[in-house]
Amino acid sequence: MTTSPATATSTDEKDAPDARGAALVTGASRGIGRAIAERIADAGWDVAVNYRADKAAAHAVVERIRAGGRRSVAVAADVTEPDSVARAVAETEERLGPIEVLVNNVGEFFLKPLSSMSLDEWRFVIDSNLSSAFYTSRAVLPGMRRRKRGRIVNVGLSPVHMVRAAPNVAAYAVAKTGIVVMSLSMAVEEAPYGITVNCVSPGLIDNGHLPPEQGRWMRKRVPMGRMGRAEEVAEAVVFLVSDRASYVSGANLAVSGGWDWQNRPTDHDDDVAGLFLGDDSG
Ligand SMILES: NC(=O)c1ccc[n+]([C@@H]2O[C@H](COP(=O)([O-])OP(=O)(O)OC[C@H]3O[C@@H](n4cnc5c(N)ncnc54)[C@H](OP(=O)(O)O)[C@@H]3O)[C@@H](O)[C@H]2O)c1
Repeated sequence: MTTSPATATSTDEKDAPDARGAALVTGASRGIGRAIAERIADAGWDVAVNYRADKAAAHAVVERIRAGGRRSVAVAADVTEPDSVARAVAETEERLGPIEVLVNNVGEFFLKPLSSMSLDEWRFVIDSNLSSAFYTSRAVLPGMRRRKRGRIVNVGLSPVHMVRAAPNVAAYAVAKTGIVVMSLSMAVEEAPYGITVNCVSPGLIDNGHLPPEQGRWMRKRVPMGRMGRAEEVAEAVVFLVSDRASYVSGANLAVSGGWDWQNRPTDHDDDVAGLFLGDDSG
């Protein structure tokens, strides 16, 4: 994408990269989304930090980005609600300018067998991981098409190929497989408009609020012997929105230390289920 002179950085930030356009990162108040927002800002983008509830955390990310010399705003919106998404996109463009980068990071997870999953729980997982990315993409694409440029990165789940089925995570696996299908479809549909669409698929990532005992058994399953860091996922996203990735579209890049979903253990599911929403309603 071209440099935007209108948002050029001030001369006293000698080491800062040239200013780019505006980026919207969903679910950026913590975890992987926060790392993506901060790393994208370091690369020169002005960043809208979307969050749902934790205003203080979102504002802390905004302050960190502003301290680095970029513009940033916190945008409250539930991305599972199309009207809320439309307002967030309008607010971002009003305050930061046209959205040139969209990162669909939101994607909540919980464990439960299908037989005891309520309709609301099913919808919750599908809406959070899959429909949300459709709503946001649909809201930004007309502008990107008009300007003939744009970058969309969706956050999936390792491995690179379709996520395999596994007990207790069917809704999540369906939604994350759907995000890959959607990314590849959109990559083809949007290619004539200069828009790239890619997927980054994390493995087991320490998002900063993982119970230590869970972290201990999780890392044993990773060929590299450790969990990933949110910053390592962010690096892949930054590459895909950079000029270096100008010919990359329809890719699905795993950031997983070699971990593959097929090795997911199920023997800890009962312990882990209590950590996620909805586990008490079945
Ligand atoms: N962590 C892992 O090991 C791992 C592995 C593979 C894939 N992933 C994927 O990576 C992505 C990020 O995961 P994470 O572990 O970093 O998540 P996280 O730490 O739980 O962060 C979730 C973020 O999303 C926001 N959020 C949740 N629902 C939202 C909604 N409906 N509307 C707007 N914001 C919402 C939260 O904001 P509030 O706090 O304000 O609600 C928070 O900022 C997800 O797509 C996940 O499926 C994670």
